[in-house]
Amino acid sequence: MTKIEWEDSLSIGVDLIDEQHKMLIKRIKDLSDAVTSSRGAVQIGKTLGFMIDYTEFHFSAEEKHMKEMSYPGLDLQIQQHEEFKSSLKHMVTEFEEDGATAQLSEGVNTYLINWLVKHIKSIDSKFGEFLREKGLEG
Ligand SMILES: [Fe+2]
Repeated sequence: MTKIEWEDSLSIGVDLIDEQHKMLIKRIKDLSDAVTSSRGAVQIGKTLGFMIDYTEFHFSAEEKHMKEMSYPGLDLQIQQHEEFKSSLKHMVTEFEEDGATAQLSEGVNTYLINWLVKHIKSIDSKFGEFLREKGLEG
């Protein structure tokens, strides 16, 4: 079972974004814990609902901050955020059509963790570096 826990290596050095990432991680962890104790089917709907709402808020906040800083990596960010949002919608459709299954819960859990860790470490972290180079944060 893939699991996630906040650790310093996930910090991008931008407080507001780190705090929002912590929130995402906490809620994904709730799903992981539920899957482990065979409560995945109950938790999956809640997690997906939260992710849809919260990523909308979080991605907008990130993109707004990047735009204000004239960050050159903004287009790639928007592209990845849009891809993730459409994957989420796809998972919700699957959930609505097939109902909550252990397999879906576990698949969603793994996808969310892999995507978020990769996105934070390889893409969001570059925004933190960009701000530090400009002497703006961190
Ligand atoms: Fe991002």
